[in-house]
Amino acid sequence: MEMNLSNASPVGLKTGVLAVGAFADGLLTPSAQAVDAAAGGKLAAALKRGDLEEKAGSTLLLPDLPGVAAERVLLVSLGKRADIGDKAYRDAVGGAAKALAGGVAKSAAVALVDLDLPNRSLTWRVQQAARLLADGAYKFDAPRQNKPPERGASAITLLVAESTPELGTALKQGQAIAEGMALTRDLGNLGGNVCTPGYMAQAAQAMGKEFGFEVEILEREDMEKLGMGSALAVGRASHSPCKFIVMKYNGGGAAKPVVLVGKGLTFDTGGVSLKPGANLDEMKYDMSGGGAVLGVFRTVARLGLPINLVGAVMAVENMPGGNAARPGDVVRSMAGITIEILNTDAEGRLVLCDALTYVERFDPACVIDIATLTGACVVALGVHASGLFANDEVLAAELLTAGLATGDRAWQMPLWDDYIGQLKSNFADMSNLGGPAAGSVTAALFLSKFATKYKWAHLDIAGTASVSGDAKGATGRPVPLLAEFLLSRSGA
Ligand code: BES
Ligand code: MN
Ligand code: ZN
Repeated sequence: MEMNLSNASPVGLKTGVLAVGAFADGLLTPSAQAVDAAAGGKLAAALKRGDLEEKAGSTLLLPDLPGVAAERVLLVSLGKRADIGDKAYRDAVGGAAKALAGGVAKSAAVALVDLDLPNRSLTWRVQQAARLLADGAYKFDAPRQNKPPERGASAITLLVAESTPELGTALKQGQAIAEGMALTRDLGNLGGNVCTPGYMAQAAQAMGKEFGFEVEILEREDMEKLGMGSALAVGRASHSPCKFIVMKYNGGGAAKPVVLVGKGLTFDTGGVSLKPGANLDEMKYDMSGGGAVLGVFRTVARLGLPINLVGAVMAVENMPGGNAARPGDVVRSMAGITIEILNTDAEGRLVLCDALTYVERFDPACVIDIATLTGACVVALGVHASGLFANDEVLAAELLTAGLATGDRAWQMPLWDDYIGQLKSNFADMSNLGGPAAGSVTAALFLSKFATKYKWAHLDIAGTASVSGDAKGATGRPVPLLAEFLLSRSGA
């Protein structure tokens, strides 16, 4: 997607489609007013007739308006005036993005940033719009015999009153976040037969080559030498060997790095504790935490952010088989803590704990792990918020703020030691199973016992990384949240 800023007049701009905003009560934004005046009141008339639904993000396409150079005008609802805020703005831009992505026009101009939002700057509006429009154009390149005809705008101009360098940077940031999300979404949407641990490792290596950052792949033998008995137990029965992917981006001189740890279960059958068959295909998304780490690297490298970043993705496939780990097996983690595997389907914590120990060597400024860890998190928070757990309240607050700023929100959950009794084992230091109560908390608490040497946060993205149903697919979350966190840490 090509994107640029322009201060051209919305009325005189030659383009396939021009998007402008209107409130439910008929109030037009300044750009929409200009278009309406040039077109002899046709926008106002359409609104008066009720042709545009009230809900923010609803759209109405008006072709061939007299006096307007654009071939079509897309009228976008901003919702009720009283409800204007981050959500209505995102819904409006998202609605426009959807219409542009599905339409025939090859070029588009979007005049939706000319709207005052409480507490949000023009820079913010431009960054969000760029990300939403670029991400809205995402299409998974499915290997179909008959490709559907290409639709959608491939070039979008964002109309602003004055085009400044600062707004140019915001545009680039939004685009780079969408680019990172696209990688995350592609990796998620690929089947487990294609997106194997080896495939993820190659994707990381290719990206490292492209941008010039270091990528190291640790093989099973390396992991054995490190004593990663817990992570290795998960991958044992798969024919695709596990890969521990370590990426190092150095843009911040001698500063301590932020470390991102990703759960990269390229497929989670549950292992011997086999999952039921319904929706099992969606366990191809169990690598989404790792996919998000790769996506964030793409964003950061594209922008050349002045930070140091380490990514550590445990890419593993959880299969049953004659060589698989069984319930009752006791394994020794790299930290020396012994673990009784009571359920082979609680494998995420088994791979993450060794990665969390490994990254101690980087003397991290902080460590954030990202994982589709528990179905219990989906029960608790549904699909709108990622679960956030942290051993440091400042870090937690930073992540919550980044979530609010991007709409890629998280909600903090407790990490109290009160729950620790649920992880008691008669045969090892801990069991990997916390029982039915507070499943996402006990999973996080398990991880916290390995994240003792640094500031740490854990994002449970089981509900947010992908959507089910008709629109089944990877969402690219929480790349926006993490990118925003890193942007604000870098002072950008
Ligand atoms: N990958 C799953 C969690 C998951 C469930 C992600 C649904 C996305 C949607 C994880 O490995 C898992 O199986 N967790 C178990 C843990 C349980 C056995 C303690 C779960 O949530 O049921
Ligand atoms: Mn599992
Ligand atoms: Zn899993």
